[in-house]
Amino acid sequence: MSAVQAQRIKIAIQKSGRLTDNSLDLITRCGLRYSRGKDQLICFGENLPLDILLVRDDDIPSLVQDDVCDLGIVGQNLIEEKRLAFAASGRGTPFEQVMTLDFGLCRLAIAVLEEATYAGPESLRGRRIATSYPFVLGRWLAERGIAAEVVAQSGAVEIAPRLGRADLICDLVSTGSTLAANGLREVERVLESRAALIRTPVPVASEKADWMERLLVRMDGVQRVNGSKYIMLHAPRSALPQITKLLPGNEHPTILPLDGTDERVALHAVCRENVFWETLESLKAAGASAILVLPVEKMLA
Ligand code: PRP
Ligand code: ZN
Repeated sequence: MSAVQAQRIKIAIQKSGRLTDNSLDLITRCGLRYSRGKDQLICFGENLPLDILLVRDDDIPSLVQDDVCDLGIVGQNLIEEKRLAFAASGRGTPFEQVMTLDFGLCRLAIAVLEEATYAGPESLRGRRIATSYPFVLGRWLAERGIAAEVVAQSGAVEIAPRLGRADLICDLVSTGSTLAANGLREVERVLESRAALIRTPVPVASEKADWMERLLVRMDGVQRVNGSKYIMLHAPRSALPQITKLLPGNEHPTILPLDGTDERVALHAVCRENVFWETLESLKAAGASAILVLPVEKMLA
């Protein structure tokens, strides 16, 4: 590796799938402009010392674990599975989860054929369950003292019951359309998951530690503004306690005088949650007027 390359941060994201668009969007909102390499496997950062590697999501934890990439964006489903797998194989210090992200919501669930009966976890005893998540499923079964046969399979888990390879499956469910398309019914939730940022277990070289830190602060900033709103309104001074209570996720609103009146004031506040029509209607009922809700673009804590 050349000295110049060594100073650049590498982040691994899913090449094509549920997390790809949101991952690229997050990185773009941290200020990166990039061009995509010919092989479509690397995006070269143009204005920051940061490059993006596009890989299979299943490979991301290992790439970060082995310090091939400094950072990775991947689902907690895979983070948990690989963490347990690495621990079982005794592979050194595990990678670290830095922050959870607000996309890629899904769950790892057990499903049966629609026509099959299901009588609770106890009924899994002695049954065969196909999954790409043998460690997470194994732990869930062990916690309940259930001895079932875990059939580890790397893909196409959803067709295992029809092929007679298994009685049930344990797989990721996001919209539920894959289960529906394969005539399967969800019966147990094993793990709730969302995307998260992971980092190498190895200390980052001093040349790039500063940029790494700045990037993490920017990502945190992007996460903070997601769903945040800036709200402005006029209200009777006497109604301020009630109105402040109605503002979701707000800490210290700014109160400003209004020209020509002592009785009404202007209130400005950042709301850390989305502001719905119902909230605006309640604010109006409490005496607020001239209510404006604006998006927040950037925030630095
Ligand atoms: C998961 C899972 C299902 C699908 C479920 O795949 O294996 O195929 O998503 O989503 P749905 O409920 O919206 O239909 P994943 O995203 O991990 O992709 P991969 O298996 O190709 O890695
Ligand atoms: Zn995958």
